[in-house]
Amino acid sequence: MKQNDDIYGKLEQWFLAHIASLNCSNGGCRQAFDLKRIHSLKVAEEITAIGRGLNLAPNDLFLAKSIGLLHDVGRFEQFKTYGTFNDFASIDHGDLGERTIAANGLLEDFSPARRDIIRKAIRYHNKMMLPTDESEAVLFYTRLIRDADKLDIYRVVSGRADVPGTLPNQDTIADSLLDDLLAGKKVSYEHLNSSAEMRLMQISWVFDINFEPTSRLVQERNYLETLARMLPASDRIAAFVHKACTHLRSQTSSAG
Ligand SMILES: [Fe+2]
Repeated sequence: MKQNDDIYGKLEQWFLAHIASLNCSNGGCRQAFDLKRIHSLKVAEEITAIGRGLNLAPNDLFLAKSIGLLHDVGRFEQFKTYGTFNDFASIDHGDLGERTIAANGLLEDFSPARRDIIRKAIRYHNKMMLPTDESEAVLFYTRLIRDADKLDIYRVVSGRADVPGTLPNQDTIADSLLDDLLAGKKVSYEHLNSSAEMRLMQISWVFDINFEPTSRLVQERNYLETLARMLPASDRIAAFVHKACTHLRSQTSSAG
């Protein structure tokens, strides 16, 4: 059996060749591709960091890292075809990613059980709700990739005012969205119309983090505070940010 590092190296080589094969020529597309290429490589690192925090065995860390690298593989074809990262205006990039991997016979070095986990974790990583009828292993790796993805999206969005291929950079926030968030409801991308609304939704992700090491990293890096500073001033927004920060602290304070 090949060593895990060799298999991972082959996956990474395929991943970079796949991006190059889509011949992204104009500046906007190149910027979007760079964003997702770097995001994918970072998520592979973040999922490993979270997995280490959970004391995963080396072979399980390797599986997690492979999912991290490949989770957004559908993003490139999505942007090339539709010019957007908005799934609701184009195509579900989790489903597309799973199809891309299957079409390229990419997982031949993995056992059938592990192949199934990788494919499903990619399919489910971007869904609003976790599936209810999957194995514990599929659910575990799906939770892991969802955490690692959020962690790196926090890095991306806290570092810049606008993110290519997403929503218009505006401060408008619908009252109904804040009502939902303050009531503890989950918000879908589908109903967002501005970058400010997207930031609020991203702040609400702290209620949906699965593992303590993720919460700890979000807190250490001050992502919520940075995002909150990019929002317009209002009492209701401040109340929601306060609620999110309090929740995040409650998830990490017992860890010492
Ligand atoms: Fe994604």
